[in-house]
Amino acid sequence: MEIVGSMVRQLLNKPEYEDIAKDYAPNYVDHGLGVFAQSAGGQSFDAMATQSMGDPIADIAEDMAAEQKARATYEYLIDMADDPDVIAPLRFLREREVVHFQRFGEIMDYLNDLKDAKKYH
Ligand SMILES: [Fe+2]
Repeated sequence: MEIVGSMVRQLLNKPEYEDIAKDYAPNYVDHGLGVFAQSAGGQSFDAMATQSMGDPIADIAEDMAAEQKARATYEYLIDMADDPDVIAPLRFLREREVVHFQRFGEIMDYLNDLKDAKKYH
């Protein structure tokens, strides 16, 4: 989030700041130009966006899905961008989500190896 927020800020100049304050007044009043977690449709992030079953395999599967959703979101943003200085950090962030997914996959393999054990935490 900080990388994306910094990138957007670097792409703006002072008159554009003033346009943001005017065009997005409610958001500007609440958050200034700070990064605020919400969907592209304006729905704020809250605890309902996270899931936990308390079951390691179910929770890791949920985490893996979240990493793929993040990857897809970065790909949509890359599709919309035409500035190479925007595309490069988005590609970096996309690749990071791929690595996260792979690391969670390694944990999933480990948990599946242990699932028949009496305790595996
Ligand atoms: Fe991630």
